[in-house]
Amino acid sequence: MNQTNDNASLEMPENTNPRVALITGASQRLGAATSKELHQHGYNIIIHYNQSLTSAQELVNSFNQKRENSAHAIQADLNDAKSVTNLAESALGLYGKINVLVNNASSFYPTPMGSGTDKDWENLFGSNSKAPFFLSQHLTETLKANQGCIINMVDIHAARPIKDHTIYCMAKSSLVTLTKSLAKELAPQVRVNGVAPGAILWPENITEAEKEKILRQIPLERIGSAKDIAKTILFLVQADYITGQIIAVDGGRSL
Ligand SMILES: NC(=O)c1ccc[n+]([C@@H]2O[C@H](COP(=O)([O-])OP(=O)(O)OC[C@H]3O[C@@H](n4cnc5c(N)ncnc54)[C@H](OP(=O)(O)O)[C@@H]3O)[C@@H](O)[C@H]2O)c1
Repeated sequence: MNQTNDNASLEMPENTNPRVALITGASQRLGAATSKELHQHGYNIIIHYNQSLTSAQELVNSFNQKRENSAHAIQADLNDAKSVTNLAESALGLYGKINVLVNNASSFYPTPMGSGTDKDWENLFGSNSKAPFFLSQHLTETLKANQGCIINMVDIHAARPIKDHTIYCMAKSSLVTLTKSLAKELAPQVRVNGVAPGAILWPENITEAEKEKILRQIPLERIGSAKDIAKTILFLVQADYITGQIIAVDGGRSL
C-alpha cells in the first residue's frame, strides 16, 4: 500500500498547490514584468489594476493559456479604503491563500511647494503608503499561515529626494519605514523587504536633456530594465534568511 502511494506521489504533477502572488498595479511596466517572472516560476498570479483593464485582461489570458486557472485580475482604486478591503478579501477568496504580496502600484508626479493639495497628499500617500499598510494588515493571517513574504516597491529617492516631489518622496520614505517595521512585527513567519529602483523605465514627459543628465549619474552608464527589477523581486521571494532589507537596483546611482 505504501509502495503504491509513494509511486502515485512521484507521478503527480510537480506543482499541485502553487504558491499565490498578489501584485498591485501589475497590468503594465514593472508590475507586469514581475507577474511574468513569478508566473514563469510556478506562481498563480493575482493582478491588481485600477484603470488598465485591457492590459490586465491580456496578461491574465496569456498566463491562463500557459497554465489553466493560474491568473486572475481584480480592479481596485487604492485611494479608497473600502476598495482596498475588497481587494484583499477577493484576492484571498480566489485560491484560499496568499504567499506573496508585492506592493507595486504607485502614483508619481511633482507637487512643487505652493501647489500641493489635500488631494495630492491622499493620492500620493494612498497608493504609495496607506494601501500597502492596509493590504499587509488584511493579509497578515494568510501570509503568516503560509510563511509568506511582502515586497514593497520603494524608490532610491525615498532617501535622496527629487526636487519638487516632496509628497511622493515622503510617501516612499514612509514605505521604507513600513518595510522595516513590519519585518520586525511579522517575524518570524513573514519576511518583509523592499526594492528601490533607480532609473528603470522613463516616466512620461521626460525630456532628452533630463535623460542625459540622469545617465551621467549612473556608474553603470545605462538605465535598468523591468527584468532587472523582476529578478530582484524573485530573489527576495526566495531568500529565506533576508528580512527588513531594501535593495537598490539602480546601476550604482545612489552611490
Ligand atoms: N519605473 C521606474 O523607473 C521606477 C523608479 C523608481 C521607483 N519605481 C517604483 O516601482 C514601482 C513600479 O513602477 P512603474 O513605473 O512600473 O509604476 P507605474 O507604471 O507608474 O504605476 C503602476 C501602476 O500603479 C497603479 N496605480 C496608480 N495609482 C493607483 C491607485 N490610486 N489605485 C490603484 N492603482 C494605482 C496604476 O494602475 P492602472 O494603470 O491599472 O490604473 C499603474 O499602472 C512603483 O512603486 C514605483 O514607484 C519605479
